[in-house]
Amino acid sequence: MSLKKDFPIFKNNPDLVFFDSTSTTQKPSFVIDGIKHYLENDYSNIHRGMYDIAQNSEKLYKKSKEIIAKFLWISDTKEIIYTYNSTYAINLFTSSLARSKYLKAWDKVLLSIVEHHANIVPWLILKEEIGIEVEFIWITDNYDLDLADFDEKYDDKVKIISLTNVSNVTGQIFNLSEIWRRKREDTLFVVDASQSVPHMRVDVKEINCDVLFFTGHKVMADSGIGVLWWKRDLLNELTPSFSWGWAIGEVTCNSFTSSSLPDKFEPGTPNVTWAVSLLKAFQYIESIGWFKKIEEIEDDLMEYFLERLQGFENIELMWSYKKENRVWVFSLVFNNYHSNDIAEILAEKGIAVRAWKHCAHPLFTKFGYANSLRVSLYIYNTKKDIDKFFDVISNLKNS
Ligand SMILES: Cc1ncc(COP(=O)(O)O)c(C=O)c1O
Repeated sequence: MSLKKDFPIFKNNPDLVFFDSTSTTQKPSFVIDGIKHYLENDYSNIHRGMYDIAQNSEKLYKKSKEIIAKFLWISDTKEIIYTYNSTYAINLFTSSLARSKYLKAWDKVLLSIVEHHANIVPWLILKEEIGIEVEFIWITDNYDLDLADFDEKYDDKVKIISLTNVSNVTGQIFNLSEIWRRKREDTLFVVDASQSVPHMRVDVKEINCDVLFFTGHKVMADSGIGVLWWKRDLLNELTPSFSWGWAIGEVTCNSFTSSSLPDKFEPGTPNVTWAVSLLKAFQYIESIGWFKKIEEIEDDLMEYFLERLQGFENIELMWSYKKENRVWVFSLVFNNYHSNDIAEILAEKGIAVRAWKHCAHPLFTKFGYANSLRVSLYIYNTKKDIDKFFDVISNLKNS
């Protein structure tokens, strides 16, 4: 059963069909009220004050990291760094690699062709700045990682593999354990979990990665908080790309030392309100029955969407037809229409979708598609929403 009633946006916009959750998710009252309660009762700076509300804020910040550790199966909360979003997280990581001279010219970084630009551009910047090589692993016709291609490209020069866990275009879940099984000890394994954390259980020990990041607003927290997890040894090894305020230990007129983990990677005043919103979002997931409930709702809706899609001959679906390997994101390629035009027609009917190339241009180039209409659902959607969508699509000429 849908959890729409928990999300006030639908009470205030009764005709809204929100099919753009891959871009960002709506917020339940539990998160909204939690933020309000924090600002009204406990708001303060952290790491500095002795007074009660400063201590309460400190506790909430700590609790927020504890729940992230619990959900990602991390044993050390000091390995968790809060950033502003996924893009900021990966940039903090890559720029710290550069500052620490971890990579040199001709070292290779392997990505997949489905990556979001957030996991491409920071590496291309290192290519410009240091002269590293960036190479892309293809995917198969089933939209899965092409392991044969991986084996071919994974040579001695590869120092880092950075892959998404789930594609934001196709919804395909990559079997990352396969990568871990094939990789050498001396290669760092970075995982973009921006699209997996909202939908499924993610266990860093099971994936066996060294670095993982995701963004809070895609999992019902407020926008403005991202999570970057690094193994402690690596964190100790690297110098943050920038440092000030709380990230600093001792300062004299001509020298400074960095503070300890994780603070050296969290410069300045942390946004405790965002951390509280993240805490509340994960508490909400706990309260509804963890990912079992999310998967149950998604499976039911996925089944129904596919049923309704049958018979539309001019629509191609970018996906693998293996339901167990995917989350609730559908990219539809219309042979007769540009996705922008359909998104506009849908918007007039109160249906929010995403058009164009979804910040994954290399994937579209590889498959030769000009653009797609991305329909992405979450726990507040219903079969009625799907019906409304297909009513509009059925009325398009030649669809
Ligand atoms: C797979 C993936 N990685 C990274 C990002 C970037 O997230 P943010 O804009 O919150 O930094 C997105 C956003 O759509 C994404 O889908």
